[in-house]
Amino acid sequence: MGLYSETIFPWLLDKALGHPNIMRRRQALVGGASGEVLEIGFGSGATLPFYDPATVTSLTVVEPSDGMNRRAAAHLAAAPVPIRSVPGAGEQLPFAAASFDTVVCCLTLCSVQDVGQVLAEVRRVLRSGGAFLFMEHVLSDDPQRQRWQQRLNPVQRVVGVGCNLNRPTAHLVAAAGFRLDPMPVQEEERAFGALKRLTPLVMGSAIRA
Ligand SMILES: C[S@@+](CC[C@H](N)C(=O)[O-])C[C@H]1O[C@@H](n2cnc3c(N)ncnc32)[C@H](O)[C@@H]1O
Repeated sequence: MGLYSETIFPWLLDKALGHPNIMRRRQALVGGASGEVLEIGFGSGATLPFYDPATVTSLTVVEPSDGMNRRAAAHLAAAPVPIRSVPGAGEQLPFAAASFDTVVCCLTLCSVQDVGQVLAEVRRVLRSGGAFLFMEHVLSDDPQRQRWQQRLNPVQRVVGVGCNLNRPTAHLVAAAGFRLDPMPVQEEERAFGALKRLTPLVMGSAIRA
Protein backbone atom coordinates (compact mmCIF):
# COMPACT_ATOMS: atom_id res chain seq x y z
CA MET A 1 0.00 0.00 0.00
CA GLY A 2 1.41 3.43 0.80
CA LEU A 3 5.07 4.30 1.32
CA TYR A 4 4.33 5.49 4.86
CA SER A 5 2.32 2.47 6.05
CA GLU A 6 4.40 -0.22 4.35
CA THR A 7 7.98 1.14 4.60
CA ILE A 8 8.39 4.17 6.87
CA PHE A 9 6.00 3.06 9.63
CA PRO A 10 7.47 -0.47 10.02
CA TRP A 11 10.93 1.11 10.29
CA LEU A 12 9.73 3.71 12.83
CA LEU A 13 7.96 1.05 14.86
CA ASP A 14 11.10 -1.05 15.13
CA LYS A 15 12.97 1.98 16.46
CA ALA A 16 10.25 3.03 18.91
CA LEU A 17 9.30 -0.44 20.16
CA GLY A 18 12.84 -1.84 20.22
CA HIS A 19 13.44 -0.05 23.54
CA PRO A 20 14.98 -2.35 26.20
CA ASN A 21 11.98 -1.87 28.50
CA ILE A 22 9.63 -3.14 25.82
CA MET A 23 11.99 -5.96 24.87
CA ARG A 24 12.10 -7.10 28.52
CA ARG A 25 8.33 -7.19 28.62
CA ARG A 26 8.14 -9.09 25.35
CA GLN A 27 10.52 -11.65 26.85
CA ALA A 28 8.36 -12.00 29.97
CA LEU A 29 5.21 -12.28 27.84
CA VAL A 30 6.26 -14.99 25.40
CA GLY A 31 8.25 -16.81 28.09
CA GLY A 32 4.82 -18.05 29.21
CA ALA A 33 4.04 -19.64 25.82
CA SER A 34 4.00 -23.41 25.44
CA GLY A 35 2.94 -26.16 23.03
CA GLU A 36 1.56 -25.13 19.65
CA VAL A 37 1.61 -21.33 19.65
CA LEU A 38 -0.05 -18.71 17.45
CA GLU A 39 1.07 -15.06 17.43
CA ILE A 40 -1.32 -12.55 15.84
CA GLY A 41 0.14 -9.27 14.50
CA PHE A 42 3.71 -10.57 14.43
CA GLY A 43 5.03 -7.26 13.01
CA SER A 44 8.74 -7.44 12.21
CA GLY A 45 9.27 -10.38 14.60
CA ALA A 46 10.49 -8.62 17.75
CA THR A 47 9.18 -11.40 20.04
CA LEU A 48 10.88 -14.17 18.08
CA PRO A 49 14.16 -14.52 20.04
CA PHE A 50 12.21 -15.05 23.26
CA TYR A 51 10.27 -18.20 22.33
CA ASP A 52 11.74 -21.06 24.33
CA PRO A 53 12.38 -24.28 22.36
CA ALA A 54 12.12 -26.23 25.63
CA THR A 55 8.41 -25.37 25.93
CA VAL A 56 7.25 -24.26 22.46
CA THR A 57 6.66 -27.07 19.96
CA SER A 58 5.80 -24.83 17.00
CA LEU A 59 5.07 -21.18 16.29
CA THR A 60 2.56 -19.96 13.69
CA VAL A 61 2.50 -16.24 12.96
CA VAL A 62 -0.13 -14.11 11.21
CA GLU A 63 0.66 -10.58 9.98
CA PRO A 64 -1.39 -8.74 7.33
CA SER A 65 1.12 -5.98 6.46
CA ASP A 66 3.49 -6.71 3.56
CA GLY A 67 5.95 -4.15 4.91
CA MET A 68 6.04 -5.87 8.30
CA ASN A 69 6.36 -9.29 6.67
CA ARG A 70 9.33 -8.05 4.62
CA ARG A 71 11.09 -6.92 7.80
CA ALA A 72 10.22 -10.17 9.59
CA ALA A 73 11.49 -12.37 6.75
CA ALA A 74 15.11 -11.66 7.66
CA HIS A 75 14.58 -13.11 11.17
CA LEU A 76 12.64 -16.25 10.29
CA ALA A 77 15.70 -18.33 9.37
CA ALA A 78 17.17 -17.71 12.84
CA ALA A 79 13.99 -18.63 14.73
CA PRO A 80 14.68 -20.65 17.89
CA VAL A 81 11.54 -22.75 17.32
CA PRO A 82 9.89 -24.28 14.22
CA ILE A 83 7.98 -21.41 12.61
CA ARG A 84 5.50 -20.83 9.79
CA SER A 85 4.15 -17.50 8.60
CA VAL A 86 0.55 -17.70 7.36
CA PRO A 87 -1.20 -14.92 5.40
CA GLY A 88 -4.28 -13.56 7.13
CA ALA A 89 -5.70 -11.25 9.77
CA GLY A 90 -6.90 -11.72 13.33
CA GLU A 91 -10.56 -11.20 12.46
CA GLN A 92 -10.65 -14.33 10.29
CA LEU A 93 -7.98 -16.81 11.30
CA PRO A 94 -7.35 -19.55 8.72
CA PHE A 95 -7.19 -22.34 11.33
CA ALA A 96 -9.55 -25.03 12.62
CA ALA A 97 -11.12 -24.67 16.07
CA ALA A 98 -8.97 -25.78 19.02
CA SER A 99 -5.71 -25.72 17.05
CA PHE A 100 -3.41 -24.00 19.58
CA ASP A 101 -2.29 -24.25 23.21
CA THR A 102 -1.24 -20.58 23.41
CA VAL A 103 -2.19 -17.44 21.48
CA VAL A 104 -0.06 -14.30 21.79
CA CYS A 105 -0.93 -10.67 20.98
CA CYS A 106 1.79 -8.10 21.63
CA LEU A 107 0.76 -4.48 20.96
CA THR A 108 -1.66 -5.73 18.32
CA LEU A 109 -5.23 -5.32 19.65
CA CYS A 110 -4.79 -1.52 19.53
CA SER A 111 -4.50 -1.78 15.74
CA VAL A 112 -6.95 -4.47 14.60
CA GLN A 113 -10.18 -3.31 12.96
CA ASP A 114 -12.56 -5.31 15.14
CA VAL A 115 -11.25 -6.31 18.59
CA GLY A 116 -14.39 -8.27 19.52
CA GLN A 117 -14.12 -10.38 16.37
CA VAL A 118 -10.38 -11.01 16.92
CA LEU A 119 -11.03 -12.11 20.52
CA ALA A 120 -13.81 -14.43 19.33
CA GLU A 121 -11.33 -15.93 16.88
CA VAL A 122 -8.67 -16.28 19.58
CA ARG A 123 -11.18 -18.14 21.71
CA ARG A 124 -12.21 -20.37 18.80
CA VAL A 125 -8.68 -21.47 17.87
CA LEU A 126 -7.51 -22.02 21.47
CA ARG A 127 -7.88 -25.44 23.03
CA SER A 128 -9.92 -25.64 26.21
CA GLY A 129 -7.70 -24.45 29.09
CA GLY A 130 -5.33 -22.79 26.60
CA ALA A 131 -3.72 -19.46 27.41
CA PHE A 132 -4.14 -16.11 25.70
CA LEU A 133 -1.04 -14.00 26.47
CA PHE A 134 -1.32 -10.28 25.75
CA MET A 135 0.58 -7.06 26.25
CA GLU A 136 -1.30 -4.00 25.05
CA HIS A 137 -1.53 -0.26 25.61
CA VAL A 138 -5.01 0.63 26.78
CA LEU A 139 -7.54 3.27 27.79
CA SER A 140 -6.31 4.81 31.04
CA ASP A 141 -8.18 4.36 34.31
CA ASP A 142 -7.60 8.05 34.99
CA PRO A 143 -10.45 10.28 33.68
CA GLN A 144 -8.15 13.20 32.80
CA ARG A 145 -5.83 10.98 30.77
CA GLN A 146 -8.83 9.32 29.17
CA ARG A 147 -9.99 12.71 27.88
CA TRP A 148 -6.61 13.29 26.20
CA GLN A 149 -6.63 9.77 24.78
CA GLN A 150 -10.08 10.38 23.25
CA ARG A 151 -9.05 13.79 21.86
CA LEU A 152 -5.83 12.54 20.30
CA ASN A 153 -7.18 9.22 19.03
CA PRO A 154 -8.03 10.48 15.50
CA VAL A 155 -4.44 11.72 15.10
CA GLN A 156 -3.00 8.50 16.50
CA ARG A 157 -5.06 6.44 14.05
CA VAL A 158 -3.39 8.26 11.15
CA VAL A 159 0.17 8.43 12.53
CA GLY A 160 0.00 4.89 13.95
CA VAL A 161 -1.64 3.30 10.88
CA GLY A 162 -4.91 2.38 12.61
CA CYS A 163 -3.57 2.28 16.18
CA ASN A 164 -6.05 3.40 18.88
CA LEU A 165 -5.27 4.97 22.26
CA ASN A 166 -8.70 4.35 23.73
CA ARG A 167 -9.39 0.61 23.91
CA PRO A 168 -10.23 -0.94 27.32
CA THR A 169 -8.54 -4.13 26.15
CA ALA A 170 -8.27 -6.06 29.43
CA HIS A 171 -12.01 -5.58 30.02
CA LEU A 172 -12.75 -6.67 26.46
CA VAL A 173 -10.69 -9.84 27.00
CA ALA A 174 -12.58 -10.61 30.20
CA ALA A 175 -15.91 -10.04 28.41
CA ALA A 176 -14.94 -12.37 25.55
CA GLY A 177 -15.08 -15.59 27.56
CA PHE A 178 -11.65 -15.71 29.20
CA ARG A 179 -10.76 -16.17 32.85
CA LEU A 180 -8.55 -13.23 33.81
CA ASP A 181 -7.73 -13.34 37.45
CA PRO A 182 -6.53 -10.87 38.61
CA MET A 183 -7.31 -8.09 36.14
CA PRO A 184 -3.91 -6.75 34.98
CA VAL A 185 -2.75 -3.48 36.52
CA GLN A 186 -1.93 -0.57 34.21
CA GLU A 187 1.69 0.54 34.13
CA GLU A 188 3.43 3.44 32.43
CA GLU A 189 6.10 2.60 29.94
CA ARG A 190 9.20 4.74 29.50
CA ALA A 191 9.76 3.55 25.95
CA PHE A 192 6.99 5.78 24.68
CA GLY A 193 8.71 8.94 26.01
CA ALA A 194 6.35 11.90 26.03
CA LEU A 195 3.53 9.59 24.96
CA LYS A 196 3.83 7.39 28.03
CA ARG A 197 0.89 8.96 29.88
CA LEU A 198 -1.28 8.21 26.87
CA THR A 199 -0.19 4.59 26.53
CA PRO A 200 -0.46 2.76 29.87
CA LEU A 201 0.35 -0.90 29.35
CA VAL A 202 -1.36 -4.03 30.57
CA MET A 203 0.14 -7.50 30.38
CA GLY A 204 -1.98 -10.53 31.16
CA SER A 205 -2.52 -14.22 30.80
CA ALA A 206 -6.13 -15.19 30.17
CA ILE A 207 -7.40 -18.76 30.21
CA ARG A 208 -10.02 -19.89 27.73
CA ALA A 209 -13.03 -20.52 29.96
C1 LIG B 1 2.16 -1.90 16.90
S1 LIG B 1 2.44 -3.21 15.78
C2 LIG B 1 3.10 -4.44 16.87
C3 LIG B 1 3.91 -5.47 16.15
C4 LIG B 1 4.54 -6.56 17.01
N1 LIG B 1 3.53 -7.39 17.63
C5 LIG B 1 5.49 -5.99 18.03
O1 LIG B 1 5.38 -6.30 19.21
O2 LIG B 1 6.38 -5.22 17.63
C6 LIG B 1 0.78 -3.79 15.44
C7 LIG B 1 0.77 -4.91 14.44
O3 LIG B 1 -0.57 -5.42 14.28
C8 LIG B 1 -0.75 -5.70 12.90
N2 LIG B 1 -2.18 -5.73 12.59
C9 LIG B 1 -2.98 -4.69 12.25
N3 LIG B 1 -4.24 -5.12 12.00
C10 LIG B 1 -4.23 -6.47 12.19
C11 LIG B 1 -5.21 -7.48 12.08
N4 LIG B 1 -6.46 -7.20 11.74
N5 LIG B 1 -4.85 -8.76 12.33
C12 LIG B 1 -3.58 -9.06 12.70
N6 LIG B 1 -2.60 -8.13 12.82
C13 LIG B 1 -2.92 -6.86 12.58
C14 LIG B 1 -0.01 -4.58 12.21
O4 LIG B 1 0.23 -4.83 10.84
C15 LIG B 1 1.25 -4.48 13.05
O5 LIG B 1 2.23 -5.35 12.61
